Amino acid sequence: MSSNQIWTHKGTFLLAAVGSAVGLGNLWRFPYLAGENGGGAFILIYIATIAMVGVPILIAESLMGRSSRRSPIMGLKHLTETHGASRGWRVIGWMGAVAAFIILSFYSVIAGWAVHYSGLMFSGSLAGADSEQIAASFDTLLASPNLLLAYHTAFILVSGLIVGMGIHKGIESGLRFMMPALFLILLIVLGYAVVVGDAGAAMAFLFTFNLEDLSLEGWLEAMGQSFFTLSLGMGAIMAYGAYMSSEASLTRTAIWIACVDTLIALMAGVAIFALVFGSGLEAGQGPGLMFVTLPIAFAQLPGGSILGGIFFILVIGAALTSAISLIEPIAAWLIERFGLSRPLSVGIMVAACWALGLVTVFSFNIWSEGTFTQAWFNRSPFDVLEFITNILMPIGGLLIALFVGWSLSRQEVLREMATTSSWFAVWQFLVRFVAPTAVAFVFLRTIPQVEGYLIPTVGAVAIIGGFTIGRAMLARR
Ligand code: TRP
Repeated sequence: MSSNQIWTHKGTFLLAAVGSAVGLGNLWRFPYLAGENGGGAFILIYIATIAMVGVPILIAESLMGRSSRRSPIMGLKHLTETHGASRGWRVIGWMGAVAAFIILSFYSVIAGWAVHYSGLMFSGSLAGADSEQIAASFDTLLASPNLLLAYHTAFILVSGLIVGMGIHKGIESGLRFMMPALFLILLIVLGYAVVVGDAGAAMAFLFTFNLEDLSLEGWLEAMGQSFFTLSLGMGAIMAYGAYMSSEASLTRTAIWIACVDTLIALMAGVAIFALVFGSGLEAGQGPGLMFVTLPIAFAQLPGGSILGGIFFILVIGAALTSAISLIEPIAAWLIERFGLSRPLSVGIMVAACWALGLVTVFSFNIWSEGTFTQAWFNRSPFDVLEFITNILMPIGGLLIALFVGWSLSRQEVLREMATTSSWFAVWQFLVRFVAPTAVAFVFLRTIPQVEGYLIPTVGAVAIIGGFTIGRAMLARR
């Protein structure tokens, strides 16, 4: 049974979880969000949320995995049965699987852009190009379904290959090679950025804490990002936690994951803004920061073609180690539930996810106008997919915090935490009260984005949901 597998080393879970956490969220999303939301103030809120909400939920989710030693969907069935908890909690496993499935479908397409850009950089075809040419090259890429499809296919196939080779030969060996290599590349890029760019301006931008710069929107963005970057609420951490050594400390491991993930986001931020400011460009460019602004900087700088190519290899590798953690939960479920072989399970997952990826591919070209999603929601099909995951992620995190905080039996939680120190009480307080409240705020942020007449619907859903959750929390033995 796959459910009895354990990582080879006590520290492998840490490596795997960091691989999952460090991804496009650190290298692409974090810098542009910080750039749009006033730099240092954003980072302050982000770090506070990681510590107060991210780490407690990280502990809770890995606890669920290790305690059940099953894939998320089967794990919740097992936990609710053995703890006499409401069956309703099983929705955590299913929602996580749906969210992971959707995220992988577009994550793979976006990682494909980085494949394209590493090619453009290494071939030197952008060297000396001006900003208009570079912006136009991004538009050309997005306008070509064939190119996007080719990269998407290649990326998801490689991810599937690694997971298909098993948790030891595939995931573990892959990570043991990729993670140090990625860190080394990040150091090289950072060193280069400090030498040729304006590191002083980057540091001033990132570490000047001026809370007035921060809008409420920025506040909520920071909290949402701290969730996304730790891969929370989707079963990925739970699936990896199922293979975690019983000797490893949940608390210490979670703190390490959060620290390494944050350190890497900050290093990427310093590198990217040093290059951007050094070239006299603007920080607040939104999602185009990595694919337009940064290539403009590389095109002007000495040695920019090579270093730019290396930078995009870093992006591809970081995305790859995250993508494999999105495949594992669903593949593990297919193995456990239907007794399929691992390669077949991974094959099914990857094929289905590849097909959904077509929606994202076509959203930038042949479906950029005139589909029903534009007619109904005024958004492209890709935006609708992203929006769905932005809702599922905080709900998943909220339910995990409530489930572990309130519904799991106290003996089991104490046994897994292997501590009775006062830190246990701190964690319990955070996971019971602070995390659910904070996550509810992040969730409420999505409401104003919904068309006006839907607000009462969402409100009603929230009230009914709250009532149902309340009953589930009380319904134990
Ligand atoms: N943490 C990943 C990143 O920073 C993105 C992500 C979110 C993720 N949820 C996930 C990755 C679940 C793997 C599994 O890019």
